[in-house]
Amino acid sequence: MLKIRLLLFLFCVSLQINAQHATRKSFNEGWKFKLDSIQTYSNTGYNDASWRRLNLPHDWSIEGSFSKDHPATPGGGALPGGIGWYRKTFTLPLSDKNKLIFIDFDGVYCNSEVWINGHSLGIRPNGYISFRYELTPYLKYGNEKNIIAVKADNSKQPNSRWYSGSGIYRNVWLTVSDRLHVDQWGTFVTTPKVTNQSATVHITTKIKNQYKSELPFILKTTIYTREGKEVARKDAKGKAGKDGVVSIDQSLSVTNPHLWSTEEPYLYQTVSEVLLNGKTVDVYRTPLGIRDFHFDINKGFVLNGKPLKIMGVCNHHDLGALGAAINTRALERQLEILKAMGCNGIRTSHNPPAPELLELCDKMGFIVMDEAFDMWAKQKNPFDYHLTWSQWHRKDLEDMILRDRNHPSVFIWSVGNEIQEQWGDISKGDTTGRGIARELVAIVKSLDTTRAITTANNETNPSNNLIQSGAFDMIGYNYNHQKWGNFPKDYPGKKFIVTESTSALQTRGHYDKVPFDTIRRWPEAWDKSLKDGNPDFTVSAYDHVSTPWGSTHEESIKELIKNEHVSGMYVWTGFDYLGEPTPYPWPARSSYFGIIDLAGFPKDVYYLYQSQFTNKPVLHLYPHWNWKVGDTVDVVVYYNNADEVELFLNGRALGTKRKEDNELHIKWRLPFEPGTLKAISKKDGKTVLTSAVKTAGQPAKIILQADRNKIKGDGKDLSFITATVVDRDGTLVPEANNQLKFSVNGEGFINAVDNGGPTSHESFKSNIRKAFNGLALVILQSNGKKGKIKVTAHGDGLLESTIEVDAN
Ligand code: GAL
Repeated sequence: MLKIRLLLFLFCVSLQINAQHATRKSFNEGWKFKLDSIQTYSNTGYNDASWRRLNLPHDWSIEGSFSKDHPATPGGGALPGGIGWYRKTFTLPLSDKNKLIFIDFDGVYCNSEVWINGHSLGIRPNGYISFRYELTPYLKYGNEKNIIAVKADNSKQPNSRWYSGSGIYRNVWLTVSDRLHVDQWGTFVTTPKVTNQSATVHITTKIKNQYKSELPFILKTTIYTREGKEVARKDAKGKAGKDGVVSIDQSLSVTNPHLWSTEEPYLYQTVSEVLLNGKTVDVYRTPLGIRDFHFDINKGFVLNGKPLKIMGVCNHHDLGALGAAINTRALERQLEILKAMGCNGIRTSHNPPAPELLELCDKMGFIVMDEAFDMWAKQKNPFDYHLTWSQWHRKDLEDMILRDRNHPSVFIWSVGNEIQEQWGDISKGDTTGRGIARELVAIVKSLDTTRAITTANNETNPSNNLIQSGAFDMIGYNYNHQKWGNFPKDYPGKKFIVTESTSALQTRGHYDKVPFDTIRRWPEAWDKSLKDGNPDFTVSAYDHVSTPWGSTHEESIKELIKNEHVSGMYVWTGFDYLGEPTPYPWPARSSYFGIIDLAGFPKDVYYLYQSQFTNKPVLHLYPHWNWKVGDTVDVVVYYNNADEVELFLNGRALGTKRKEDNELHIKWRLPFEPGTLKAISKKDGKTVLTSAVKTAGQPAKIILQADRNKIKGDGKDLSFITATVVDRDGTLVPEANNQLKFSVNGEGFINAVDNGGPTSHESFKSNIRKAFNGLALVILQSNGKKGKIKVTAHGDGLLESTIEVDAN
């Protein structure tokens, strides 16, 4: 018996940890696809033999060409929308005949309709929500074929303020279950009492009976450690009526619990087994993180008894050159880069995320603000969600909470970003925002009372209807960093979080010849275009340009550190994203806000965060050292774990500096002279780190470097390969923009290429890319076979380079 239970457990953990049935299987393979806005392809008889064959997840927009004339506009990424059709033919074994069959879509953008064997199962306008249909009544078994057809309609645009992607861009699953089973999202696990000695784990399990008679059953609930050891178990007897759902509450106790934290995100797992006549008919597993937290008026966020500043970032859902098509490794890479910077929080701006993001945040230790909406009933764009608000907001919000409430990484629910209903002409009696706020909070509270509920407000005055509603647990500010310190006076007795901050602007590797401390706010207002930008659409990567509503990175970090009552802040944004190309119009087509560019290459301010929020020794010296003789150059250094930094130019000592009180950087103003500029950080007179920038010569060769030289040969795993254009001594050539060409041999293919530049109109789906400020990226994907993969980079007049990646 013990062996069987252990096997069962191992089977469970081999899958990913999202609350779900153990029998859930991927349904991503073998779809047919066609873009067509005229004909309907829901009929079973239609011959789709000539359609393109593909595996999901799939985003058709990212495959298109950039044009300012696409209805999405550059704000939506300047890529095409349209209507796409997906069809899949499949068979089911006769042994499934008495079972229930469900299909789960993690997200389809947007306005989807799904048919099984010609029967419409329903529509779902919201492109970010997960949904399920039961297929059982319409299915055929044995040799007979079933046809599922999905229409995704992203033709009415603009419907988004950022790049949305189009199609079945998230995973699809097929679940086969007994007629007696744990309902969809049917568990809710909470930890009402946590001490170091013991934790109470409360589990509510919903059992659904789709048999034709009432049935008695046993529910066995077991908690396992990460290593698979059973630590608590409870059995309960129940009875479920015909077509009924019963709810069972159980409390289990875990002694000496291993607590979940951002540094050690320890995960338990709860396994719910349903037994009918002594036989296990269903197994459902739920992740469990044992942690205790609250938000405090004075101390901010408190996790497991200790105040913890949330140093988070907002991200949109696109994965740069991969578009919206979800890939777990691509997401994991983003989170690894963020974690190494000292980031410990993610805001899923401004929509429910892919479930994989939350699984990774559970495992890697991030404090997630899970956000539902970017607008309510009042629009931001003509075809956005406001059109379906009244019919769908309740269902969408409920489904988001039910799906995500078991993730230990979720600490905050946000029910809206910069909602238009904040305002309203009160003299005309427009207080709709208050009513909607109360309604949404009531919906969330009916499903989860353990997290704080907030909204992201750009109106911080008490007249804001959302704040006036009094419904929220915590007030969230977007921007307004000058007001954070005053919050306790402005809102006595209220809890506070910075839901969005900064919106500073930078192009990686470009520096204007303007003194570092000349702060510029661009554009002058959100609806004004830029008067004095650079003709090549670059923004200086010194930390001295921000939007007028935002701040420089240093300005907002200082306020975060200084004010104990600020629970944390989520910087806009961690990564650059497609769309919203502030401050420039077309030809810019992606954002400049990221601490990290679209290709995943850090900008200089990345190291400012790293020096403030990690213990890892940092010494970052910038800009590059390729200037004209006679130029005056501001040299900036971010460092930590040291008392001072000494600077040398071509071996000559230029003096030692240390950070002044209240400054997070040090700075020299130097006349340029070619050669080597070297910084040495010192503690108690001893060298901690050395860092140098050198004047580069002409581009001479390419260097390839992979984030991982070993990947899985599973058809999904990725290796991110950076191509650096260097001179003959191996120094990066800072403005190199050579055309590079990549070729692949062996068990992999190039999924996409990029260089992080926000104005390039080259296709991501290519093997050719220009370097941008010395760098380009190749995203190499396993083709499903095991073996070696060789990637070679060529460029005119450059020594080529080859790298080998093992897929196994
Ligand atoms: C905020 C908004 C974000 C993004 C950002 C750009 O006001 O919430 O979605 O538009 O501005 O600065």
